[in-house]
Amino acid sequence: MIVTVLGLGYVGLTTAAGLAELGHYVVGVDIDNDKIEMLNRGDVPIWEPELAPLIAKNRQAQRLAFTTDVQKAASQSDVILVAVGTPAGPDGKPDLTQLERAVSDLTSCLPSDALLIIKSTVPVGTTDQIATRLRRDVVHNPEFLRQGSAVHDFFHPDRIVIGCGSEWAAERIRRLYQGITAPMIVSDRRSAEMIKYTANAFLAMKISYINMIADLCESLDANVEDVARGIGADHRIGHAFLQAGAGYGGSCFPKDTHALLYLGAQTGCSLPLVESADRINQLRPQRLVTKAEHALGTLRGKHISLLGLTYKPQTDDVRSAPSIAVSRLLLEQGANVHAYDPRARRFPIEQVEICPDVETAVHDADAVMILTEWDEFRHLDWRRLLPILRCPVIIDGRNLYRLEEMRKLGVAYPLRYLSVGR
Ligand code: UGA
Repeated sequence: MIVTVLGLGYVGLTTAAGLAELGHYVVGVDIDNDKIEMLNRGDVPIWEPELAPLIAKNRQAQRLAFTTDVQKAASQSDVILVAVGTPAGPDGKPDLTQLERAVSDLTSCLPSDALLIIKSTVPVGTTDQIATRLRRDVVHNPEFLRQGSAVHDFFHPDRIVIGCGSEWAAERIRRLYQGITAPMIVSDRRSAEMIKYTANAFLAMKISYINMIADLCESLDANVEDVARGIGADHRIGHAFLQAGAGYGGSCFPKDTHALLYLGAQTGCSLPLVESADRINQLRPQRLVTKAEHALGTLRGKHISLLGLTYKPQTDDVRSAPSIAVSRLLLEQGANVHAYDPRARRFPIEQVEICPDVETAVHDADAVMILTEWDEFRHLDWRRLLPILRCPVIIDGRNLYRLEEMRKLGVAYPLRYLSVGR
């Protein structure tokens, strides 16, 4: 089939490359001219494992091309997928400006037999409205890709959700994803939109639940990792998303929980579980900063080194990362903040001094705070690094090290190692 993918963020770009790999002829469209020029030069604007070679391979096979010309691409397509951003406004309300523009651009050029698919995360009822406006069936097909493993997730999804109004549309989506083995969950459009928000909010709740339990473990001298292992072994609970730490960030969980709360408020339906998950998460950065403050007495004039700025490893994305809130709190209390991250793109707080490597970042530090579980940090040689710290305090916001090993290290060096919930 000939496919247009509109919006080349990490979802759109991964989907475009993945569909080309499945054998379709795909045109990726974005209004950002620089991005399109970059892609046409063979460069990839985001760092996502396995994505660059997949794009290169499919461009070479002439199954993947990029343009800013939406009308030309869409008018020749069997399927048009919209994957533009829907960022949250200050009240949690999703900003649909990009989606509205995309739909307007498409109105005049959609072939009558083409299928329009909305992949962007949108408030419940949005796809219905677009279907009414365009007087045709429009599908909501939410995505469940994780940054850092987006390519793998594209080819190995747990399920494909199809929210549509006709068997014709469902059938075309089945053809689109032919080659991928996953259960197809067909529903009405509103339920498909709801599935996406509900899944992300549920995962966010799981993380906040274990973080809440981690705090209690600290008070009761229990170990949250043992607790997580013990409860996760119950298959009704499962081991995933029970890693206690600095809290969740990124462009999805904070935005989608806020959007769900906004939808609840709009309909007069309170969502106390989601509210609590959000509140618990917002308090995680303060909790880590308080640990540093207690260890050092005061943060004024102290040199604090952050290891990890991205919201999780295997990405260069710092959107809503805990590192941003932690940095703000540290700076407010008069600390000097230095940081190192293997991949982070521009960091939004200028006062944070970005260092080229771990050694430079931790040199003369009064405390080191680990905020992202990059593999590189798991294998640091602390015997070599501790002597270059001014004060041997490590606040491990991701529980990277075994307590036993840090205890042994503490015998040789006067180390204070503070992790989460243990
Ligand atoms: C998330 C979902 O996992 C995807 O299914 C979904 O498609 C995507 O949002 C989206 O809506 O686009 P993503 O935000 O890329 O994907 O990353 P996750 O791996 O889910 O991690 C989110 C945050 O939770 C990270 O900050 C991570 O550090 C944190 N986390 C995750 C924990 O603190 N503990 C855990 O046990 C797991």
